[in-house]
Amino acid sequence: MTAISIDRVSRSYGTVRAVDDVSLEVEHGEFFTLLGPSGCGKTTLLRMIAGFADLTAGQIRFGNKRIDTLPPHRRNTAMVFQNYAIFPNLTVGGNVAYGLRARGVAEEEMKVRIARALRLVHLDGYGARWPHQLSGGQLQRVAIARCLVIEPEVLLLDEPLSNLDAKLRVEMRAEIRQLQQQLKITAIYVTHDQEEALAMSDRVAVMRAGKLEQVARAQDIYRAPATPFVAEFMGTTNLLTGTIAGRDGEALRIRVGQREFRAIGNARDGESVSFSLRPETIRLLDTGEAPPPGWSVVEADLGAVEFLGAISRIELDIGDGAMLRVAGLDLLPDQLKARGRIAAAYDPRRVTVFRE
Ligand SMILES: Nc1ncnc2c1ncn2[C@@H]1O[C@H](COP(=O)(O)OP(=O)(O)OP(=O)(O)O)[C@@H](O)[C@H]1O
Ligand SMILES: [Mg+2]
Repeated sequence: MTAISIDRVSRSYGTVRAVDDVSLEVEHGEFFTLLGPSGCGKTTLLRMIAGFADLTAGQIRFGNKRIDTLPPHRRNTAMVFQNYAIFPNLTVGGNVAYGLRARGVAEEEMKVRIARALRLVHLDGYGARWPHQLSGGQLQRVAIARCLVIEPEVLLLDEPLSNLDAKLRVEMRAEIRQLQQQLKITAIYVTHDQEEALAMSDRVAVMRAGKLEQVARAQDIYRAPATPFVAEFMGTTNLLTGTIAGRDGEALRIRVGQREFRAIGNARDGESVSFSLRPETIRLLDTGEAPPPGWSVVEADLGAVEFLGAISRIELDIGDGAMLRVAGLDLLPDQLKARGRIAAAYDPRRVTVFRE
């Protein structure tokens, strides 16, 4: 069931097309993330759904009902902001009560609902506290409780974790995801953190300069990026360019300087293409070791090695100024340096080819 239809929506500020002819559908109960670099239009799109920004063109519907013409309080949405937006002069309970008071909910019912909302975000018993007595993570939980208490149809979250330290961010993202699953609420989440997007979302829309670059399941965005931009924005990758030099069985042969790569894909002979090969999919072979069946090998000289404990980031020089980044698990730099020339193996099925 479609919960939200965004239909050819645009928003301009002067000559800036903040959101540029965007269409997408969010399913009921889905955790949907808008991901993209700063200034790509994520907040603007979210604010249009909430009713805090007008559309220049297009329509937004919840189910069959057009809502972009309604004032914010009649849209049945609630929004969590980056900076919490907690009222400092109200207690925790007072903050959570705010939306209920505005809706004229009776005092008795209000108490029950506030207690339930605080329990959901693991803040039972915090109702009488003041905001200045809370940590950043607790403040953000209050903000979430304040949204949940009005039982919105759609929960909108704009970078809610970006003011928290790294450890708390990881904890809170799991909590938010769990809460969303438990309540089966439709959520639209804005972030520029790709790991957060992968960890939390059912589907992700990658935005770039006001447009949607790709909309897909989180794992598909990572594994099968539609464009070089998505491949590079989602994690680290090797983005190389080369020329098609025929086929080898079902694999394309792609010439990159003096080296040749193999990829499963479609392109014409002589065509210039770019392709993405993730560092963690490349395996360095021991001296004399054969690659796994179906894999290809590229020879290289060892470049810089950065030892990070669990993994090492390794740069391989493949000639003509091109580098291949490899993420090696459980490797010591000394082991590599003793080897000199390195054979790097990869699976051609894991290479994503982009045609111009
Ligand atoms: N009120 C406004 N007036 C003028 N320009 C605006 C306004 N709000 C946003 N913009 C412009 O619209 C574009 C999109 O802004 P938006 O805030 O939606 O980006 P964002 O993806 O949320 O970025 P960030 O990750 O930095 O929060 C930017 O170029 C921004 O400068
Ligand atoms: Mg923003």
